Amino acid sequence: MTSLLVRGIGELVTNDPALGDGSPLGRLTDAALVVEGGRVAWVGTTTEAPAADAVEDLGGRTVVPGFVDSHSHLVFAGDRSAEFAARMAGTAYSAGGIRTTVAATRAATDEQLTAHVAKHVAEMRRQGTTTVEIKSGYGLTVRDEARALAIARTFTEETTFLGAHVVPEEYADDPAGYVELVTGPMLTAVAGHARWIDVFCESGAFDADQARTILAAGRAAGLAGRLHANQLGPGPGVQLACELELVAVDHCTYLDDRDVAALGDTGTIATLLPGVEFSTRSPYPDARRLLDAGVVVALASDCNPGSSYTSSMPLCLALAVREMRMTPAEALWSATRGGALALARDELGRLSPGGPAHYVVLDAPSYVHLAYRPGVPLVLDVRGGPTPEPPRADPNSQLGL
Ligand code: NIG
Ligand code: FE
Repeated sequence: MTSLLVRGIGELVTNDPALGDGSPLGRLTDAALVVEGGRVAWVGTTTEAPAADAVEDLGGRTVVPGFVDSHSHLVFAGDRSAEFAARMAGTAYSAGGIRTTVAATRAATDEQLTAHVAKHVAEMRRQGTTTVEIKSGYGLTVRDEARALAIARTFTEETTFLGAHVVPEEYADDPAGYVELVTGPMLTAVAGHARWIDVFCESGAFDADQARTILAAGRAAGLAGRLHANQLGPGPGVQLACELELVAVDHCTYLDDRDVAALGDTGTIATLLPGVEFSTRSPYPDARRLLDAGVVVALASDCNPGSSYTSSMPLCLALAVREMRMTPAEALWSATRGGALALARDELGRLSPGGPAHYVVLDAPSYVHLAYRPGVPLVLDVRGGPTPEPPRADPNSQLGL
């Protein structure tokens, strides 16, 4: 096995508190890293670095763990830029827009959907994401949910069944019948393609009783639960997530003191998605309030065509710092280690000896530049990780994207 010594790292963030400065970021300066067989073999300072088969000098640049984007909806077709433009002119966001994407997704071929996911995964990787979670939720028939997850599975192990995204039009008069479909034949058809099950627990989507029923059925089929909750207004979702001791509950925009206390007590991770507040012109969640209460916070993109059409974790990190009262250190941790914990993948989101070498080289002297220089393409290189390397642009894409 060939070993590579990466030296001349001006600043190395390991997210391993046993390394470096002892902070949660496990930060070292004038650092070096040895990679062997895709794993971190050694971490330390450049002067102490052992010999290796090959040597690379980064000339003082920064290395951080790859971003772990624990929440995205990449299996979709169609475009909702007109809906975005209307929102920026004053129209409010509503969950009903999801049905527009459902119609376009059902009409797309498998090849079109696969090409579309590949394009977005490649976009994510270019911006430093080495692990991505992908949800279904724009099919909402047995066939369309199963194919969405089969496609998602070709890109990531972290796939989530979101048949309970909204009640589709054909079940508008029979929401109970749709819950039976989701918990019955649809769940059976998707179970082999998904690790997680999710419910949009919100007024206009599914209530707490329906969410409880769907998550229980998922658990019986071997899928671990997560929830979209408290996105558009206060609601019961966060309490339900904590009661069920879910690993993570996502959005958490409208929280009362009980919600914050429950998150702190149970350890359920609050995944915040600032791309949504940016794209819907809504108030941002207060990450500081959560962090001060001892809640573990993750950051993710929620990349989807309606509420957050960004694939950029650096953008989400910068928004979290500027708009959600996080420090640059907290935001980086939440976008890497926080995302890994939100997916129950303890080996990810850190650069520890023996662990996977999924890392990003930043053309900057410090990770702080991720927030200090918003919108600037600082990601110079992305190494390792299950997220596929970006393919060449496909001029024959039938979606013309
Ligand atoms: O996470 N909240 C529900 N689902 C997506 C939005 C989907 C859409 O508008 O198409 C979200 O924000
Ligand atoms: Fe979402």
